[in-house]
Amino acid sequence: MDFQVGVIAGDGIGPEIVAEARKVLDCVGSKFGHVFRYTEILMGGCSIDATGVPLTDEAIAAAKASDAVLMGSIGGNTSTSPWYKLAPELRPEAGLLKLRKELNLFANLRPAYLYEELKAACPLREDIIGEGFDMMIMRELTGGLYFGARKTEQVDGVTVATDTLTYSENEIRRIAKRGFDIAMKRRKKVTSVDKANVLDSSRLWRKIVEEVAADYPQVAYEHMLVDNCAMQLVKDPKQFDVILTENMFGDILSDEASMVTGSIGMLASASLNDTKFGLYEPSGGSAPDIAGKGIANPIATILSAAMMLRYSFDLDKEADAVEAAVRAVLKQGFRTIDIMPQAGETRDGIVQVGTAQMGDKICENI
Ligand code: IPM
Ligand code: MG
Repeated sequence: MDFQVGVIAGDGIGPEIVAEARKVLDCVGSKFGHVFRYTEILMGGCSIDATGVPLTDEAIAAAKASDAVLMGSIGGNTSTSPWYKLAPELRPEAGLLKLRKELNLFANLRPAYLYEELKAACPLREDIIGEGFDMMIMRELTGGLYFGARKTEQVDGVTVATDTLTYSENEIRRIAKRGFDIAMKRRKKVTSVDKANVLDSSRLWRKIVEEVAADYPQVAYEHMLVDNCAMQLVKDPKQFDVILTENMFGDILSDEASMVTGSIGMLASASLNDTKFGLYEPSGGSAPDIAGKGIANPIATILSAAMMLRYSFDLDKEADAVEAAVRAVLKQGFRTIDIMPQAGETRDGIVQVGTAQMGDKICENI
């Protein structure tokens, strides 16, 4: 089959890691008989430099015309880059938020998985790690604090800033359904995370999640307050299967969950709407400090491409092949610098490779 893939290489390490994901997609294409055609789309700092804005209407149209979009990363160093002297709506991140909203990408899937071979990178104690963990953070992505009305004003000579957190029952219901659907394909457990002891939006969240849960009798579900969840993620991450939560809580908890796996360079993500379209990107940032050095870990982007094969193109076999190849390469001992053994750990059989070599190794294993 033929697929049209929009490619947002973006800033920092983005172009390097996206190049490897394209290499892997092309390898999947020749092995399984598909053609992936790419359209390059500007977004983020590179778009600001070229056009003055982080996301143009043409870029949005090009994304909409694609079957799915593969993204690297956007943004630069927030204290030194000139992009951060611009007004907030002109900064690189504003492009990403606009794209999420324009494409209605309300469901953000962030798997956090501890690879057997990378257990040593996990900062948690061995007795806490146990057999490892495998969770899916389902983050609502187009509502809440990120998109509510905000303003900064003078009130009686004092500067006051306001952000608003709004959710409608429809927004909650559609993400909750997605969360329970995903749970049905996993270990059938949903932990819905809120702050219902304080927030009205969380009380509504809880009520709607309960209504949705009634349609999924096979799924065990529980409610958890977000502060407790932050603690449980380091105390006993094995307990989680699907974590279902609103935008801001999901932003914070997904960074925490990724750190617990010890390897943010390994974590993929998918942002989906109610069609087959999706935006696929690594969970990590643009890492401007190592950009252009050829040492960034491309695995998260490659695994994001695998999610694209699975969720947007229904190519499960092909997605399995990519994921298996990543596991095989880790077993063979190949590591980028971020997942190399730490001081004091054995390096027997471990070989450090760069970004492009990692992509090549994964292709060899497909
Ligand atoms: C993320 C990022 C973004 C977010 C930023 C870059 C706006 O942190 O995807 O988690 O907060 O959603
Ligand atoms: Mg984040």
